[in-house]
Amino acid sequence: MTPADLKALVRTIPDFPKKGIQFRDITTLLGNGRGFAASVEWLADEVRGAEAIAGMEARGFIFGAAVSARLGLPFLPIRKSGKLPCQVIGVDYELEYGLDRLEMDPQSVSDGQQVAIVDDLLATGGTALAATALLRKAGARVSRAAFVIGLPDLGGSKRLADEAVDVRALME
Ligand code: PRP
Ligand code: ADE
Repeated sequence: MTPADLKALVRTIPDFPKKGIQFRDITTLLGNGRGFAASVEWLADEVRGAEAIAGMEARGFIFGAAVSARLGLPFLPIRKSGKLPCQVIGVDYELEYGLDRLEMDPQSVSDGQQVAIVDDLLATGGTALAATALLRKAGARVSRAAFVIGLPDLGGSKRLADEAVDVRALME
């Protein structure tokens, strides 16, 4: 499947979850088995060489966990607030349509471990920057992030580049 075929599988819903947001919905891509597999394969190629994959709840779990399994690498779940049973480190952040908090188990990372971030979509970069900050605080090295969708007008790629994170997106 070509990137154009995969792009055609993403559905756009206007004014969700707030007026003015064009919501790029990956559930229609997930509903196509070959499309999902091709997307995971593309992401896996982009992050090959990393020692672990981190994904952000919830849509980042779908692609991140699949990429981890594909590459035989550990998966590090970065969760929304109050979900992890252990001691956590956390960070509040802003995304395209609101405010949220991400948390992780600092012991899930070994010192200097090379961790790549995988998520469905990069908009403002608030979520991926928050994940980068948490992973680095826990001792990881973060230099790569791969997304199914990048929204270039929202500046996420530039903000991540400013933090020395190289961004790849399967489609824009
Ligand atoms: C979405 C998406 C990314 C983030 C991108 O997650 O899955 O993680 O927004 O936006 P940003 O670049 O402006 O930060 P959301 O918080 O909506 O959670 P979900 O995965 O639970 O749907
Ligand atoms: N997360 C942040 N912005 C988004 C958008 N426009 N569509 C889907 N998920 C998003």
